[in-house]
Amino acid sequence: MKVLVTGAHGQLGQEVLHELEKRRHTCIGVDVKEMDIVNYEKVEYIIKESDVEAVIHCAAYTAIDEAEKQENLCNKVNIEGTKNVAQVCGMQDIKMLYISTDCVFNGLGNQAWSPGDVIEPLNVFGQSKYKGELEVIQYVKSFYIVRTSWLYGVNGENYVTSMLDQGSKNGKIYVSEKQVGTPTYTYDLARLLVDLIETEKYGVYHASNEGSCSKFEFACELFKICGMDVKVIPVSEESYDLRGIYPINSKLDHKKIEENGFRSLPNWKNALERYVKRIGSIR
Ligand SMILES: NC(=O)c1ccc[n+]([C@@H]2O[C@H](COP(=O)([O-])OP(=O)(O)OC[C@H]3O[C@@H](n4cnc5c(N)ncnc54)[C@H](OP(=O)(O)O)[C@@H]3O)[C@@H](O)[C@H]2O)c1
Repeated sequence: MKVLVTGAHGQLGQEVLHELEKRRHTCIGVDVKEMDIVNYEKVEYIIKESDVEAVIHCAAYTAIDEAEKQENLCNKVNIEGTKNVAQVCGMQDIKMLYISTDCVFNGLGNQAWSPGDVIEPLNVFGQSKYKGELEVIQYVKSFYIVRTSWLYGVNGENYVTSMLDQGSKNGKIYVSEKQVGTPTYTYDLARLLVDLIETEKYGVYHASNEGSCSKFEFACELFKICGMDVKVIPVSEESYDLRGIYPINSKLDHKKIEENGFRSLPNWKNALERYVKRIGSIR
């Protein structure tokens, strides 16, 4: 199959390209330089010209904190940009896979979020990603929406690399013990995304590594695997500057993946071990 990947230089985009290549699909990776998704003419030209059967849309404005101050830019990329890609995919009858987020939910309660749960984003980023979902649903007949959470990969900065940097610099790190979620290694998610586009099983899915943990448990496991002597200090939300923009409960329910015959992602501890091994050989 011929597939175009947006956000090809990002942490997920790069893994998706590797997975497509591994399976001998023909892939075209584009990032802001080749195809700024905000520019409709460019999007139309590149997608039509590339004559692909599927688009995996990984490009996004992803800085949750910054989005609160840069709402216009965030909306431009995540809503208008996604609309541009969706319109062209719809017109050309191309399958489109859009990556969304647990931030479309309000983060309350203890239950893992299911695809049909009530949407109530807490932050500008979540709001923009949800509106992006609506554009995809409006314009594309053959769409997949995959909501994921706590993404980390080998390309670029993320909360894991930031914990490692802080830990090695200061020997201690403060982490929320209340924020609970399902971490996601981009390598594992990329495999599922390609599994999905090889089928006609369209719809909304939730995908992250199996199991859940608090940010505190995650940090403890990370330093244990790395063999680093870092003091992990749990902090409660009252003393932690979350400004109410981060969901406390980011757990995603993956049942729909198995129900549709797809392989679920491995457990988060197993994923973290493989990730640490891999960055160890890169760093
Ligand atoms: N990171 C998470 O924890 C998380 C959680 C849930 C869902 N997601 C979703 O997962 C997807 C992949 O995230 P990621 O972590 O791989 O993000 P990432 O590493 O930030 O990659 C996003 C890519 O999109 C590019 N981009 C930004 N604006 C663009 C534009 N106008 N036109 C074309 N490309 C543009 C970025 O380029 P520049 O770097 O040059 O800006 C970057 O290469 C996104 O849809 C994100 O919303 C992420």
